[in-house]
Amino acid sequence: MAIDSKLKSRIAAAGQSHVLKYFDELDEAGRNQLVEQLSKIDFEALPGLVADYVAKRPEIAIPADIAAASYYPVNPSNDDEKALYAKATELGRKMISEGKVACLTVAGGQGTRLGFDGPQGTFPIGPVTGRTLFQYFAEGILRNQEKYGTKLDWFIMTSKLNHESTVAFFREHGFFGLDEAQVFFFTQGTMPAIGYDGKLLMSAKDSLSLSPDGHGGTLLALRRSGALDRMRSKGVEAISYFQVDNPLVPVVDPLFIGLHALTGSQMSAIVLEKTGPYEKLGNFCVTGGRVSIIEYSDLPKEMAERRLPDGSLEFSGGSPAIHVISRGFVEELTEGDSLKLPWHRADKKIPCIDATGNPVAPESPNGVKLESFIFDALPLAKRTMLLARDRAEVFAPTKNRTGVDSVESCRAMLMARDASRLQAAGVSVPMREGGVVDALIEVSPRLVADVDDAVEFARKRNLQSVVRGDKVCFE
Ligand code: UD1
Repeated sequence: MAIDSKLKSRIAAAGQSHVLKYFDELDEAGRNQLVEQLSKIDFEALPGLVADYVAKRPEIAIPADIAAASYYPVNPSNDDEKALYAKATELGRKMISEGKVACLTVAGGQGTRLGFDGPQGTFPIGPVTGRTLFQYFAEGILRNQEKYGTKLDWFIMTSKLNHESTVAFFREHGFFGLDEAQVFFFTQGTMPAIGYDGKLLMSAKDSLSLSPDGHGGTLLALRRSGALDRMRSKGVEAISYFQVDNPLVPVVDPLFIGLHALTGSQMSAIVLEKTGPYEKLGNFCVTGGRVSIIEYSDLPKEMAERRLPDGSLEFSGGSPAIHVISRGFVEELTEGDSLKLPWHRADKKIPCIDATGNPVAPESPNGVKLESFIFDALPLAKRTMLLARDRAEVFAPTKNRTGVDSVESCRAMLMARDASRLQAAGVSVPMREGGVVDALIEVSPRLVADVDDAVEFARKRNLQSVVRGDKVCFE
């Protein structure tokens, strides 16, 4: 493939002609690849991006009127709220059973931080069986389908890095019992890495250095992949959004979905009480009457540590990245096939080729990767709803190998959640000090999605106790 002269002059006008330095020596496949990549770059916007995000470090401006956002409490605090929660739960259930809800998992990440070579979702997290993250969600969907007598479509966002291996994994496992047709994979977009000199970095003579564009890319990718059309044609109104690293999340939450709908919200979020000022969670704030999330790394120390007269943190609401998003809101935001969310800069060591075409593995950061974040859509919503949830029931992220938010802590939380459901069903579960389960247990989400299910399960199996030190999976 030759390069179109119009594209060539757009590249030159953006001061990026170096990307064509080796074009003439490439074979046909190499040329095609490079032209395809280049044709997707917005060269007109590039100089502005370089000026705003590379030449200078974007200032995280904290508006003067910033305050902590308020939210609905975990438990209703008065009779009116009690009635509202009951009505919302009923509405949420109705929406699920009428097929108005779909699930969406962002799974573009690799398991690198877990020391794992593969898509994050294929990580074996089950404390007894090594059930994978994807299997937890799939089985949760199966159980909820049964409960609500419906089909729940599941949209899974992959990245170029893991799309094929993710799809192959589902095939290999027979889609974990789901219908292949109800699982819709779509791939997020990419952004080119930019060197500190403002030039696009090349990973090879025939390729730009491209990386996933962040989970903010979900919104445009939903439109471009046809997922939005599919949702509309099937009557989906609300999207239950969660991250692939959190196997504790309920795949659908009737109260959350119902409150979102009852309050006429376009985008809603679950809020957790932070464990401390520096917990690595986005912080819920409000400015100019709009809810927004300030990422943990951007919240000034003074604000993170600020306390109310009763000693509690002022910015105490953290984000587990669990949302309900109206399908209509995504359509509105991405109309005209474009969406402007702010970019976030990350300085990285980016392998590339140097001016002579030789590969370089830099020892210190040599450029910038840009990502957009889905939660930057919150302030664009006409209305938002925030609901606090008990962490033990919704959030056990598995991000690191050990320590905080690790495989270990996630497994312990999965076991604690399963134990508390069994206990609520009258089953005696051995505990150690500090509320730690003194056995290895795993309950299949295919069978138990809540306490009601646990009661039914214990009754049917005549399950009365778990033996101390036992290793048992209830399938
Ligand atoms: C994220 C949130 C943080 C939130 C926390 C809760 C960001 C920037 N921050 O932090 O506000 O409190 O989770 O656990 O997201 N992903 C993609 N494509 C991408 C990038 C990420 O699909 O291009 C997916 C990953 O697979 C993962 C999720 O998004 O499921 C989170 O990404 P990660 O970069 O790990 O964010 P955290 O720093 O953990």
